Amino acid sequence: MASPHAGDGVLRSTDAGENPNLARFNSRAKEWDQAPDRVSRAQMIAERILEQGLVHPHGEVLDIGCGTGLLSLEIQSQALRVTALDLAPRMVEALKEKCAQQSVTNVEPVVADVEREPLPGGKYHLIVSSMTLHHLRDTYALLQRCFDALRPGGALAVADLDWDASGYHKDDSGVVHPGFERHNLADQFSRAGFSGVKATTVSEEVRSVPDGDEKRFTTFLIWGTRP
Ligand SMILES: C[S@@+](CC[C@H](N)C(=O)[O-])C[C@H]1O[C@@H](n2cnc3c(N)ncnc32)[C@H](O)[C@@H]1O
Repeated sequence: MASPHAGDGVLRSTDAGENPNLARFNSRAKEWDQAPDRVSRAQMIAERILEQGLVHPHGEVLDIGCGTGLLSLEIQSQALRVTALDLAPRMVEALKEKCAQQSVTNVEPVVADVEREPLPGGKYHLIVSSMTLHHLRDTYALLQRCFDALRPGGALAVADLDWDASGYHKDDSGVVHPGFERHNLADQFSRAGFSGVKATTVSEEVRSVPDGDEKRFTTFLIWGTRP
């Protein structure tokens, strides 16, 4: 059984210095969309978000850690605008190219480190993030900042791996949380001020892990509303 603090989103190892995710994701941008599991997971996350009625036609959306925009591009047609933010310039460049190819004009790709850049207050109707939280050090601080960046009535929806996702990444440089316990994350949502916090399973996949065994990994979506 996991320790009482496992998966609660608080980084315990010392991890100062340059963010390893910059090099990691810059180098993977070109092949990012070539993984069918990744593409279908983003589609399933978008479906759940749309099913819950979290995207509004006049809505300003922020996608944190957008990568090549797999999630942003799935939901943009239902929103006014999606600001798609990522640390890695090559990911953002790939998204810009896709927007141009698909004549999408309401997605604004932005290079930014969400752990360092301030977010605008009370701006967004919806903030989404897919598979990025496990790369961020202080998840509770991020939830608090997202709360402040939402309009009243706005929602935060985060998809990530369930605890224990150790072994999921072949290279785990830049991975600071090996998944999350849903109840710990739900507690963080509530403490940050969100109401109506709910979670559901979005997808599952079986992968070979370093010891040679196969392991089942599930992805959840958790969401809550700023009252
Ligand atoms: C696993 S990828 C997920 C990408 C995309 N959301 C998807 O589902 O395909 C994580 C993304 O988070 C970005 N990222 C990591 N740390 C970040 C930070 N501090 N600020 C902004 N983006 C970050 C990475 O560059 C990468 O594109």
